[in-house]
Amino acid sequence: MYISKLSLFQFKNYETLNLSFDTKINCIAGENGAGKTNLLDALYYLSMSKSYFLSIDAQNILHNQNMMMIKANFHIAEENFEIYCGVQIGQKKILKVNDLIYSKITEHIGRFPVVMIAPNDQNLIAEGSEERRKFLDSMIAQTDSEYLQNLIYYNHYLSQRNALLKQNTTFDKALIEMYDHYLLDFGEKITQKRQNFIKEFLPIFQKNYDFLTQKKESCHFEYKADFLSKNFKNNFYQALQKDIILKRTTFGTHKDDIIFFIDNYSLKKYGSQGQQKSFLIALKLAQYEIIYQKKQIKPILLLDDIFDKLDDFRIQQLIKLVNDDHFGQIFVTDARPERTLQIFATINIQPTIFKIENGKVVK
Ligand SMILES: Nc1ncnc2c1ncn2[C@@H]1O[C@H](COP(=O)(O)OP(=O)(O)O)[C@@H](O)[C@H]1O
Ligand SMILES: [Mg+2]
Repeated sequence: MYISKLSLFQFKNYETLNLSFDTKINCIAGENGAGKTNLLDALYYLSMSKSYFLSIDAQNILHNQNMMMIKANFHIAEENFEIYCGVQIGQKKILKVNDLIYSKITEHIGRFPVVMIAPNDQNLIAEGSEERRKFLDSMIAQTDSEYLQNLIYYNHYLSQRNALLKQNTTFDKALIEMYDHYLLDFGEKITQKRQNFIKEFLPIFQKNYDFLTQKKESCHFEYKADFLSKNFKNNFYQALQKDIILKRTTFGTHKDDIIFFIDNYSLKKYGSQGQQKSFLIALKLAQYEIIYQKKQIKPILLLDDIFDKLDDFRIQQLIKLVNDDHFGQIFVTDARPERTLQIFATINIQPTIFKIENGKVVK
């Protein structure tokens, strides 16, 4: 899959922008704050119908304006798709493919897959379990639409149940029972899918980690889920007393986590910076691979400031993948484009360079 053209209107720091891309490697150059990351985010937006960085749509509108739009032409095999996303304050977001408006935006997820590798991926290790669940969810959602639907239902009943627990009055027992029924039902399905996915994902991740690091150490991760416990239904019902006191649902799929290990020690606590970086990149390369396996579409690869973060060896390994035709279209940002050019020159590839200044393309 590749993107041929992009138009932006009032997206973040871009007032208007029209660009045509190379089908292979595009390098976005420019100083800090120019808009390099924002450009990658616009492409991510069209794929996932949201920003990689800001969860509220309106925050992506150019300051002091009330609407934005992103439009691009995607190509899969012989087919062409014009994807349009429009956000206007106070109105429902519009997402269209070839002028057809989605009634459910979730139907779009996974049709035009994308993988982003960005500096803030470090949050996957450093932050709480929510970050890791989001990563897992967005990966599974891109390959399984039923999963996303189940997740939306689960979160809906979870917030209803929590709202009920927050009321101080003695609450409706039948209502709690109904919410419990749905949470258990959807929660079990979600847990099952997460567990199956991780089983498939882990060896692909390990292969990529070994490739990047030359098998310097062993690494793995474990899926932790309340609903994997033996008497999870009982435990769930028993947690009600605690839930009433704490006024929130304390047991369930919304608590799941993935624990990362290097040589059987916690990556977060004991992993060196280099190990953590390799781990993150291997996770993303595995994400790329598993999406490709399942959909037979090469995702768009968005590499944000990646060369800043990697040592020479790992850059070489990544470049090998580019050379092997492992990837399709790639977008890389770099404040120092000479470096990107030099790296790609080693495999006789000349990327197309776009120089950005203050939300404008100057070359
Ligand atoms: N909604 C917005 N409206 C206007 N400018 C924005 C908005 N969101 C971010 N920006 C601006 O975009 C710039 C950052 O762009 P970014 O793509 O992160 O730069 P870089 O080239 O360093 O990757 C900052 O100057 C920031 O203020
Ligand atoms: Mg940036």
